[in-house]
Amino acid sequence: MLVDLILKNVKIPLEDRIIECGIAIDKGKIHTIAKTSNLPKGSKIMNLKGNIVFPGLIDAHVHLRDLELTYKEDFYTGTCAALAGGFTTILDMPNTKPPTNTVSRLKEKIEIAKKKIVVNVGFFTSYVSGIKELRRLKSSGAFGMKLYPYDQLGKSVLEDTGIFMKTLAANRVVNLPTLIHAESPQIIDRNEKRLEALQDYSAKAYINAHPPEAEIEAIKKICQITKETRSQLHFCHITLNKSLSLIEEARAIGTNITCEVTPHHLLLTRKIVEKERGNAVMNPPLRTFSEVRSLWEGLIAGKIDIISSDHAPHDLIEKKEKMEKKILPGVPGLETTLPLLLTKVNQNKISIFHMVKILAENPAKIFRIRKKGQIIQGFDADFTIINMKKRSKIDSSEFYSKAKYTPFDGFETIGKPIKVFVNGELAMEDGEILLKPGNGRILYS
Ligand code: NCD
Ligand code: ZN
Repeated sequence: MLVDLILKNVKIPLEDRIIECGIAIDKGKIHTIAKTSNLPKGSKIMNLKGNIVFPGLIDAHVHLRDLELTYKEDFYTGTCAALAGGFTTILDMPNTKPPTNTVSRLKEKIEIAKKKIVVNVGFFTSYVSGIKELRRLKSSGAFGMKLYPYDQLGKSVLEDTGIFMKTLAANRVVNLPTLIHAESPQIIDRNEKRLEALQDYSAKAYINAHPPEAEIEAIKKICQITKETRSQLHFCHITLNKSLSLIEEARAIGTNITCEVTPHHLLLTRKIVEKERGNAVMNPPLRTFSEVRSLWEGLIAGKIDIISSDHAPHDLIEKKEKMEKKILPGVPGLETTLPLLLTKVNQNKISIFHMVKILAENPAKIFRIRKKGQIIQGFDADFTIINMKKRSKIDSSEFYSKAKYTPFDGFETIGKPIKVFVNGELAMEDGEILLKPGNGRILYS
């Protein structure tokens, strides 16, 4: 038989060893993984020259911003940033304008995304009540429900134990994971009101308004409730040692809780805010060195399930400190996450095998993204090809993202994605996007 494409001379990190082999791809799927001499014939052959092949990487926390916030990012620029950064699948957050919180809004997003995307994209919903609407959302494709400590997006749910329990129970019935931005709405509201009264809109004040207690309080309460409801829960971007121990405690009694950490919380401390000002402001904020150290310990010990970028692009003007207006929190991360983490692999801080788990296998399992996250026969032919030795310097002016800033500007990295395949097609090569808008695929739960 003749397959569409043969990738020869590849190295695949599998469990705890590197397999040298070839991959046959046919109709967008992995047909065979075998020694090159045992592969079927291909209409095309590509020699990957011994570079590392990861399963297509998955970023489960991305704000693509389309529909009405396209001045910050849109489905095309955001998915180009994903490709350039080595991600083949991303899950889009619902805090857009308008928020994704009805079936018709989800469908509207999907229709617009279909024409623009260049990677695989799935969607989360925001707070929705009622089993009937939830069921329809799930069958229209939603991968989970994201709750925020803000109005409209779940604040009242996080504040009210009764409603929260009901929401978790309903999500459990329809088998929808609940994702939480864990910061106590009460603590943040109180602090922000105080700063508004003082008219202090500095980056430092912003960070102080989001203290560790806000995260701890929220995680404590939510873990307690989850112990009773036993529904699937995912904590987004946790930043503290205490959060990890609360989650471990809840897991020990059999709750289905997972958690994520971002590269910025793993690699930066709040000290950098003095230099980077608004460009280093995000929710939750950067913490101290000792928290960063404990996140690494937690990661290495397997207590953290996934790394996500929390790609949260804004316009530069929204990141500036001003006398009269709050800085908008959030940093783009799709184009920095992988080179930064590969640098840590090169420094032996984390193994390449662990990277595959937290950037591909685990997000696919947690959010039940079918046929993705591993290099297995019959799975989708999504691959991220890495040159482990390639050195570069982070330069936000070169981003595909519309958000041309990052607190990592000037950081030197070792290791870079050099090719990306999406559903069997070469989609990115040496930073160049080879797919046309609309060639990505919508994912349905
Ligand atoms: C998020 C965004 O911009 O959408 N920003 C962020 O810093 N993570 C919103 C949020 O989570 O507060
Ligand atoms: Zn986010």
